[in-house]
Amino acid sequence: MSTPTPVTVTVTGAGGQIGYALLFRIASGAMFGPGTPVRLQLLEIPAGMKSAEGTALELQDCAFGSLASVEVTSDPSRGFEGANVALLVGSRPRGAGMERGDLLAANGAVFGPQGAAINAHAAKDVRVLVVGNPANTNALIAAAHAPDVPPERFSAMTRLDHNRALAQLARTLDVPVAGIGNVIIWGNHSASQVPDISHGWVQGPEGTRRPLPQALTEALGGTCSLESWLAETFIPRVAKRGAEIIAVRGSSSAASASAAAAAIDHVHDWVSGTTDSWTSAGVVSDGSYGVPRGLVSSFPVHSRDGAWQIQQGLEPGAEVRARISASVSELAEEREMVASMGLIERGHGRTGR
Ligand code: NAD
Ligand code: LMR
Repeated sequence: MSTPTPVTVTVTGAGGQIGYALLFRIASGAMFGPGTPVRLQLLEIPAGMKSAEGTALELQDCAFGSLASVEVTSDPSRGFEGANVALLVGSRPRGAGMERGDLLAANGAVFGPQGAAINAHAAKDVRVLVVGNPANTNALIAAAHAPDVPPERFSAMTRLDHNRALAQLARTLDVPVAGIGNVIIWGNHSASQVPDISHGWVQGPEGTRRPLPQALTEALGGTCSLESWLAETFIPRVAKRGAEIIAVRGSSSAASASAAAAAIDHVHDWVSGTTDSWTSAGVVSDGSYGVPRGLVSSFPVHSRDGAWQIQQGLEPGAEVRARISASVSELAEEREMVASMGLIERGHGRTGR
């Protein structure tokens, strides 16, 4: 029997909190299946090297059958060498008194060089998931510095928002999470994101499916209208869940295990394909739904043959359209900001590259 070819996975920020929650799951086979060997390449800055090295020792001690090797480095050319999948987690968190522009400037300086290193050293089939915030615009910056990698191989993580929406809906309806489908996160991975249930379904008895709006209206039982529940409870709960977790866990702890789980789900579905429900991912816009070309925005997506495809033909209602427009304006502003800082060329991506 021939041994399957190993997949090389680079994880940046490997010494951080998400790295610690993510690496053991990748190594155990959760991303590609236990039969696929994984080579892990952990990329850190010098200050994070000791933490990443300690994690590498523990990875060895787990004796996972699917872990082929682990390497730790602070050299991006070594870290991205031959990468089939690159998870860009490492980035500078927002510090006290830092404005969005400061964060974009600090992280633009990280994601530009990493895009260039991916362009020069990764495998031809590389797929890149940006987790580090601001994830959408960091993905745009990385893609802009990788002219030989097709832009559709760069994506930004909104799967955590998608999973948060599923979990809230499952609790409200008292059904399993797996019984809900076709929920959407549109726009930016920020408080302006648009969780949208209007095309969703919930599984009923004997394979039947009911529209989510109908099921939710019944579950609310006249206590409030669906519109006010969406606007006042559901949307802010999902969009501000990161801040809620930080407040509850403590100011230095953000969502890490759930972010790691979402990164696993994102790459798993990208590589293996989605089933009957779409999911949400930040992908480079081709102009669908009026989102300007080149912006990395979250859309409903399927994965077919290892490529994300934006679900076409949906008709969001006026309220959802207005929210999408506001979130996309924020993305356009971020693109302007990083262009004015010289981190990308002005007009990048507007004509398809
Ligand atoms: P953390 O501070 O615990 O770890 C970040 C790690 O990145 C540190 O070890 C640091 O040394 C490393 N790092 C910094 N710059 C680097 C570089 N240039 N190259 C390699 N490594 C570098 O943070 P965390 O909790 O692991 O979160 C990481 C990022 O993920 C943050 O930006 C956070 O806001 C973001 N995040 C995104 C989502 C999402 O849904 N997209 C969810 C949760 C967190
Ligand atoms: C999250 O969604 O949990 C992260 O992006 C962290 C944050 O600042 O909200």
